[in-house]
Amino acid sequence: MNDEQKLLEFEAKVNRNEKIEPKDWMPEAYRKNLVRMMSQHAHSEIVGMLPEGNWITRAPSLRRKIVLLAKIQDEAGHGLYLYSAAETLGASREEMLDDLHTGKAKYSSIFNYPTLNWADMGAIGWLVDGAAMVNQVSLMGTSYGPYSRAMVRICREEAFHNRQGYEIIAKMCSGTDQQREMAQDALNRYWGPSIMMFGPSDKDSPHSAQALKWKIKSETNDSLRQKFITQTVPQAHARGLTIPDKDLKFNEETKQWEYSEPNWDEFFNVIKGNGPLNKLRVKTRKDAHDNGKWVRDAAEAYAKKNATRNVA
Ligand code: 3HC
Repeated sequence: MNDEQKLLEFEAKVNRNEKIEPKDWMPEAYRKNLVRMMSQHAHSEIVGMLPEGNWITRAPSLRRKIVLLAKIQDEAGHGLYLYSAAETLGASREEMLDDLHTGKAKYSSIFNYPTLNWADMGAIGWLVDGAAMVNQVSLMGTSYGPYSRAMVRICREEAFHNRQGYEIIAKMCSGTDQQREMAQDALNRYWGPSIMMFGPSDKDSPHSAQALKWKIKSETNDSLRQKFITQTVPQAHARGLTIPDKDLKFNEETKQWEYSEPNWDEFFNVIKGNGPLNKLRVKTRKDAHDNGKWVRDAAEAYAKKNATRNVA
């Protein structure tokens, strides 16, 4: 078959909602878009460990410390899972990490904001993992097999991340006045950046058309953003919190919360590398990678020695 016929067969398979597997023929543009998305998703998981890592030693109780530790360890696993899934498309781990360390690759904008106090641990679990959940549940239906299966596993753990964050917020909202103010302040600072996680609006999303055509994505950025907002606003109100959007209003017809346009100047500035903590986050990741070289070398030497011993 020529490439044209292969493309027709590929698209028929995608349209039958069959999964594309690593050994299947696929258009180079499909492979490239997936490597971009999956590697940046993996970077987001690994960089996403940093804002919360700052609070392990400052957790207010042993229980909170254990829960936060478990969550952060999950994120590391999600990252490794997604790097491995990206490798099934021929991407190299070293190149993906290099792209992160040199600033060539992106990771989720949300992780470039500071975590100022314990309420931010709640806001991250509730809002950031909540937004990630909406996005990742949708990605369970992605046409690429390894990515779809990775999402099934990751979404189960993401649900725990989201619940533990909301529990922190709920506890603070039923605590002292100061704790309530901290929870509201965290919501004020994290609401805007959380709804930006879904990417630019559909009209400004260069990758979406192809991603939707080949079912890499099954929903648009704006529809996922709307889904997140519709599910999260009642959760805030249930805790007596106010969403920091003076134009937020419930449309009785559509049963949706109408919201103000995110601050797109801020969004594009952050993803260009000029967010509050972009440079620190990338430096921290690069330093950790460099400092961990001896571990990788030792593991490689051990594996080589073992391999020769098995051959002998
Ligand atoms: N942060 C950083 N960059 C973003 C972004 C964000 N929130 N949203 C969009 N971008 C970038 C895109 O990467 C693209 O840049 P590139 O060409 O250099 O890659 C550009 O902005 C245009 O955006 P598009 O909408 O055209 O790009 P996509 O079609 O890829 O849509 C996306 C963006 C919705 C984030 C999509 O990539 C996606 O669904 N990715 C997989 C899920 C993911 O990565 N989630 C990140 C959060 S994971 C997480 O938070 C960990 C959890 O445990 C907390």
